[in-house]
Amino acid sequence: MSESTSQREQQVKAKPLPRHVGIIMDGNGRWAEAKGWPRLEGHREGSKSVKEITRCARRIGIQALTLYAFSAQNWTRPPTEVAGLMELLREYLIKERAEILDNGIRLNAVGELARLPSQVRDPLEELRAVSAKNTQMVLTLALSYGGREELVHAARKLAMKVEAGQLKASEIGEQQLAAELWTADLPAVDLVIRTSGEHRISNFLLWQSAYSEFVFADALFPDFRSSQLLDCLEAYQRRERRFGQVGPAVRAP
Ligand code: FPP
Repeated sequence: MSESTSQREQQVKAKPLPRHVGIIMDGNGRWAEAKGWPRLEGHREGSKSVKEITRCARRIGIQALTLYAFSAQNWTRPPTEVAGLMELLREYLIKERAEILDNGIRLNAVGELARLPSQVRDPLEELRAVSAKNTQMVLTLALSYGGREELVHAARKLAMKVEAGQLKASEIGEQQLAAELWTADLPAVDLVIRTSGEHRISNFLLWQSAYSEFVFADALFPDFRSSQLLDCLEAYQRRERRFGQVGPAVRAP
C-alpha cells in the first residue's frame, strides 16, 4: 500500500464512517471486452478488486460490507459465464478462507442460496458457520439475490405466520417486515456504491436503501480498488443526511 493511500485511510477513519456499505460491482464484462478478452477475465480481475476493497474496508473499520456478486437475474446469462462465475466464487471462498478468519471477519450470504450449486454452497456454508462468531466486520455476499425476491419471501413468511395464528395482519409494520428480510441482522445501509458509471439500483437492497446515500463511481469494477473506495467514502463524508427531516434533526453521516 502506498504512503498516500495509508494517509488517506487515516483521514477517512477520523471522520464519521458509514456503518454499512453496499457495492453494486458493475463493469467486469465491459472491462474485458475493451481489451478484446473473454468476459470471464473481467470477473477474474473483479475478484482481485473484491479482495483489495474488503481488506481496505476492514482496515478502515467499516462494520458491514455487502457485495452484489450474483443477481437472481444473472442466471439467464450464457451457461459458460454462469459456470465461470460459480468457479470464481468457489475459488474465492477457498483461497480467502484463512484471510477472512485471521481478520475476524464474519462471512455472510443473502439470496436464494438453495439455487447455488454445491460447489459454491458447501464452502460458503462451511465458512459461514466457522466465522459466525467473528465481530470485526461482516462481509455479506449477495448471491442469487434480488431485492424484489427478498420482499416476496418476507411477505410470504408474514402470511404464513398470520395463517398459523402467530401474528395478526393488523400487527404487521415496518419492523415485522424488516425482521423477515435476509438482511435482518445487518445494520441499515448507509452508503450504496455503484461502479461503471451506470446510475441504476438493479434490484439491490430495495428496502434497505430507502435512506442510503448513493455514490456512483466511473471506474469499471476491475479498476475499482482502495483508492476508488476512499474516493466514495470521502464523497459520503461530504454529504449531509436528512432522513426526510429538516433543522435540528439533521445529523452528519
Ligand atoms: C457485473 O458486471 C458483475 C457481475 C455480474 C459479477 C460480479 C462478480 C465478481 C466481481 C467476481 C466474483 C465475486 C466474488 C465475490 C469473488 P457485468 O458483467 O454485468 O459488467 P458489464 O455491465 O460490463 O457487462
